[in-house]
Amino acid sequence: MEPSCGFTTYSITVTYCIWGFTSSGTSGQQKLIVLVISGNFSVGFGMQHTVVIFLLAFSSVTQALDNGLMRTPPMGWLAWERYRCDIDCDNDPKNCISEVLFRDMADRLAEDGWRELGYVYINIDDCWASKKRDAQGRLQADPKRFPGGIAKLARYVHDRGLKLGIYGDLGTYTCAGYPGTTLDKIEIDAQTFADWEVDMLKLDGCYSNSSDQEQGYPRMSKALNATGRPIGFSCSWPAYQGGLPPKINYTLLGEICNLWRNYGDIEDSWDSILSIVDWFTENQDVLQPAAGPGRWNDPDMLVIGDFGLSMEQSRSQMALWAIMAAPLFMSNDLRTLSSGAQAILQNKAVISINQDPLGIQGKRLRKESSGIEVFMRPLSNNASALVFFSRRTDMPYRYPTSLKALNYAPGSYNVYDVFMQKPMPTLKDTTGFVVSINPSGVVMWYVAPAEWQERPKFFQANRKSDPFIV
Ligand SMILES: *[C@@H]1O[C@H](CO)[C@@H](O)[C@H](O)[C@H]1NC(C)=O
Ligand SMILES: *[C@@H]1O[C@H](CO)[C@@H](O)[C@H](O)[C@H]1NC(C)=O
Ligand SMILES: *[C@@H]1O[C@H](CO)[C@@H](O)[C@H](O)[C@H]1NC(C)=O
Ligand SMILES: *[C@@H]1O[C@H](CO)[C@@H](O)[C@H](O)[C@H]1NC(C)=O
Repeated sequence: MEPSCGFTTYSITVTYCIWGFTSSGTSGQQKLIVLVISGNFSVGFGMQHTVVIFLLAFSSVTQALDNGLMRTPPMGWLAWERYRCDIDCDNDPKNCISEVLFRDMADRLAEDGWRELGYVYINIDDCWASKKRDAQGRLQADPKRFPGGIAKLARYVHDRGLKLGIYGDLGTYTCAGYPGTTLDKIEIDAQTFADWEVDMLKLDGCYSNSSDQEQGYPRMSKALNATGRPIGFSCSWPAYQGGLPPKINYTLLGEICNLWRNYGDIEDSWDSILSIVDWFTENQDVLQPAAGPGRWNDPDMLVIGDFGLSMEQSRSQMALWAIMAAPLFMSNDLRTLSSGAQAILQNKAVISINQDPLGIQGKRLRKESSGIEVFMRPLSNNASALVFFSRRTDMPYRYPTSLKALNYAPGSYNVYDVFMQKPMPTLKDTTGFVVSINPSGVVMWYVAPAEWQERPKFFQANRKSDPFIV
């Protein structure tokens, strides 16, 4: 790890270097932090003291929900944004919320190359349930739209090497008015989902207040654990409480949820993407440390392949979601997806950046008055991802910079252009370069020290035979 060195003047003058070493335990639950501060402290009239201070601390901030799941951001498909609460199966049989829709999407995930890339969750959202619980007080699927029931759908999904996610709501009703999970129903609903062999639960927060949520989300986490079935847990809690401390305790969320929605629902529009990116970026100093293996901020679904985004904007959503270490849940029609949208969603380099095992969320480094923003995410093997993002609306903008200007350490770097899908010339940190960024588009790079030994798979696959290489 590079030491970060600085110089501060108070009443004493201190030149200092701080090294932070972190070593994760096997479970990733505990982090040993060793801080070594050494330097020359010159106090008052020229006295020089050389001081070395060791600080040892066990940090508890990195606790993650201990169900072993989602060590990298979960990937898959989620119904809500595209299909909402369309229950009109008589007139819209292919798109209504029914077992047909989920079987169709499971077939596509399994047969069109998605599963192998990591898109394994097939997730139901609101409007799946019958308006009435059964005689034992259990949730049940709408009998007309899910005649086989959820357990049978789970088997269908598992037979194809996929996982099934379901939706509930901590409150009197779900957002669309179906039966909710009040505090007294938490255990029975967790057990029902486990009995059906469901693999993930998104627990929404309509029709509950902050004290119900404070009790209910930790209690559901416990109840899921008590079933003995590993069930990924997505919590909408922060989105209902403004997403920020002091109302939201991200340490606690990381201990009880695998992912959480911090902010409002995504819509099929570029404005919606921008408002989400803005909110997550403005609050990145709070949100970024909350993320890590097993615990992720969720800026909501990918709307790539729907109607609202251009190809440039689609690449931007994919790139920024990868930088943010966001869950990648597509909400689109995989049966009719365009080849352009498919190529973006199946880009191996951007997926491997999203799925980097260190699980460090990236941040915005620069916000230029020209409308260019630069994002960076640290990756394993001393590599990193850079995104140059243009908020301009006129024409491709030529942005001059250097790796040194973007805080890179001295040295030479190999650069791979993620969407051009080709290696670029090796760059010294001091070499100036210009990237041309299209309006509402991105240029995305994978950057690695030039002395690296192992190239990532997407580099090795850079041959004619690879279908993703143009
Ligand atoms: C339940 O929690 C315990 C302790 O945190 C953990 O070891 C176990 O794997 C969890 N089980 C499930 C099914 O999540
Ligand atoms: C929250 O709602 C519950 C009913 O679900 C009610 O009993 C409780 O008094 C409410 N608390 C507050 C602070 O409004
Ligand atoms: C946040 O939650 C953690 C873990 O449960 C707890 O130790 C800490 O005291 C909480 N922080 C605040 C400010 O309540
Ligand atoms: C990363 O860089 C540090 C020096 O900054 C070096 O000690 C370490 O071996 C590098 N790690 C890898 C995996 O290349």
